[in-house]
Amino acid sequence: MSEKVTSRMSGFHKLSVEERLERVGRMFNLEAEELGALQGSQQVDVELANQMIENAVGTFSLPMGLGLNLQVNGRDYLVPMVVEEPSVVAAVSFASKIVREAGGFTAEADAPIMIGQVQITRYGDPTEAIRRIEANKEALLALANSMHPSLLRRGGGARDIEIRLLPPPEGSRGEPILVVHILIDCREAMGANLINTVAEGVAPLLEQITGGRVYLRILSNLADRRLARAMCRIPVAALADFDLPGEDIAEGISQASRFAVADPYRAATHNKGVMNGIDAVAIATGQDWRAIEAGAHAFAARDGQYRPLSTWELEEGHLVGRIELPLALGTVGGPIKVHPGVQLAHRLMRVESARELAMVFAAVGLAQNFAAVRALGSVGIQKGHMALHARCVAVTAGARGEWVEKVANLMVEAGAHQVKVERAREILASLPPEEMARATGTAA
Ligand code: MEV
Repeated sequence: MSEKVTSRMSGFHKLSVEERLERVGRMFNLEAEELGALQGSQQVDVELANQMIENAVGTFSLPMGLGLNLQVNGRDYLVPMVVEEPSVVAAVSFASKIVREAGGFTAEADAPIMIGQVQITRYGDPTEAIRRIEANKEALLALANSMHPSLLRRGGGARDIEIRLLPPPEGSRGEPILVVHILIDCREAMGANLINTVAEGVAPLLEQITGGRVYLRILSNLADRRLARAMCRIPVAALADFDLPGEDIAEGISQASRFAVADPYRAATHNKGVMNGIDAVAIATGQDWRAIEAGAHAFAARDGQYRPLSTWELEEGHLVGRIELPLALGTVGGPIKVHPGVQLAHRLMRVESARELAMVFAAVGLAQNFAAVRALGSVGIQKGHMALHARCVAVTAGARGEWVEKVANLMVEAGAHQVKVERAREILASLPPEEMARATGTAA
């Protein structure tokens, strides 16, 4: 019998991997084959890898975890996350729990409009070139739309043409850079392929119109027409922790935000934390995460100084978090139909559109950032990180099963300087032979 889908699964982290799979399988009515995709048996095989990229020599896997507790616009989302860094999944789940109790995240996303760029050179008089392009706007849009009839049928298509004249980088002796932007609604696609086809397709007409020579024809990853926003409002009192009152924690978080707004050195790390969450769900759901990264960072620098993608402010007894960033995501194309793990991740996400997916991504980024600045603005992150790091160290030293936790705890209790592979090996070696064989999984 299937269970109601909820992202609030208390005690999930205490279950074994098999018990977790069973629970998720029941909730989503998953077949054994689909659960196999989670366990790796149905992942990309070498045959598929060879079709996906050139010079394939094998495949490479990473852990997939589920971010819990997330609620966006009143709906629960279980967030599949693929990431090697300990603490990312726990941080999203922890932050989402606090936000959930405060009413959840609210989020919105723009229409899926992407920009294709065409660079025109040797066009002569810029005023005349611009006038001619403007006079031919309708013909350019019609040509662009003729290249993707199926996109038009799905309600997307070319929406507008914008012309930009940029100062020459060499100074006044150079030709100003003339760029035409074609704005295209990509509907459910991330859009790179279709934008590039259109940019290349309209180039000959632009050359004809301007008498110039076109060079680059490519999408822009600064997808600033396709922004997603999320926000949350947490009562200050709900933030109390580490024996500190909520006011202190809230103050630490808002100071972290001020620091990031003022200083690009801090903003880079702040945004790295945001992207810890966004990249992990991007990889799980088969997105082009390099495109997302490029767009996020270019957007963060849009006013000339690199700034945080999210901010935290105190407003009438509440801590209010806001995030805004470009999110060029797809629910079709790329590896989505090909990769079994990605397909399963989409089933777990239960989103109906790329726009909804972008809202969830934005909320995940804000949750991840909340967990980081909450710790940074109070007790620091090493305490929490050290426990997780110690588990990795214990595994590296050979510990298995319940002994991973035991060895990790022994190292952490002895102090951060004792969290080392040699120390973990010493602990294992000090066990009676039979116990050691069990602790390292080498028992006969
Ligand atoms: C570590 O992966 C991410 C943080 O450095 C983010 C931050 O400093 O805000 C903790």
